[in-house]
Amino acid sequence: MALDNILNIAELSAGLNTEKIGKRIIHITETDSTNTQALILARGGAAEGTVVLAERQTAGRGRMNRTWHSPPGAGIYLSVILTPRVSPNRLPGITLVAAVAGAESLKESTRVSVDIKWPNDLLLNGRKICGILTELHARDDGSHVVIVGIGINVNTPRDMFPDDIANSASSIMIETGREASRKDIVSSLLGHFERWYRIYTDGGFEVILERWKAYSGIIGRRIRVEQEGAHTEGTVLDIDMSGALVIRDDAGFQHIIYSGDIVYL
Ligand code: BTN
Repeated sequence: MALDNILNIAELSAGLNTEKIGKRIIHITETDSTNTQALILARGGAAEGTVVLAERQTAGRGRMNRTWHSPPGAGIYLSVILTPRVSPNRLPGITLVAAVAGAESLKESTRVSVDIKWPNDLLLNGRKICGILTELHARDDGSHVVIVGIGINVNTPRDMFPDDIANSASSIMIETGREASRKDIVSSLLGHFERWYRIYTDGGFEVILERWKAYSGIIGRRIRVEQEGAHTEGTVLDIDMSGALVIRDDAGFQHIIYSGDIVYL
């Protein structure tokens, strides 16, 4: 069984070295989706940096209306409330912050080296162990609330994954052969998140993008992008400041793609 079947939030908070992110952690045994709960809290005035963390989600959400499978005690399911004061065209860049923080924290806390797969999956040995769902909400005064939801398969055993993702998804435990401490991962994640989020709000988009590209290795690769019934093949020229893919197809046309799934060719 998992090392820490219920996260000890008192211990986690005591060891946390952040000023804003995770200063308040709302720990829930079971909820529909931490992103949904975080938005409700944000609308009620919860401070920036508030984290909602659940042991289990009954309606965990992924990108493109998918379900995020969230069995109890095995994974990390958390959402961070942010209220960045940056121009709207910079808001999508927050997802890059989360991906880089995720990659660095997993290295620090579990020694694994993950790759970022566009747009924001973290892969270990080619299998997805972490997903990020960023949701933007405009407020009446023109400012934005951003909810960054992060799901990490930590000690999930292979037989807990539904059949349709059994080959593409994995957990840190499956890939390394040993259990990992969810507490150590959350603590490291919130610390790295705070550092990169500060770089982001200070305008350091280029630095974040460069780090993201280094983890992804996608530039120059041939890929297929699949988007609801359509697909585009080409070579990746760049990732722009909003995290969009810039690709050149075989006829020489350039495409900027904001969402979809990629397959390396
Ligand atoms: C994806 O890869 O499609 C994104 C998955 C994001 C899952 C996390 S788990 C915590 C938060 N709450 C949700 O309902 N989704 C995100």
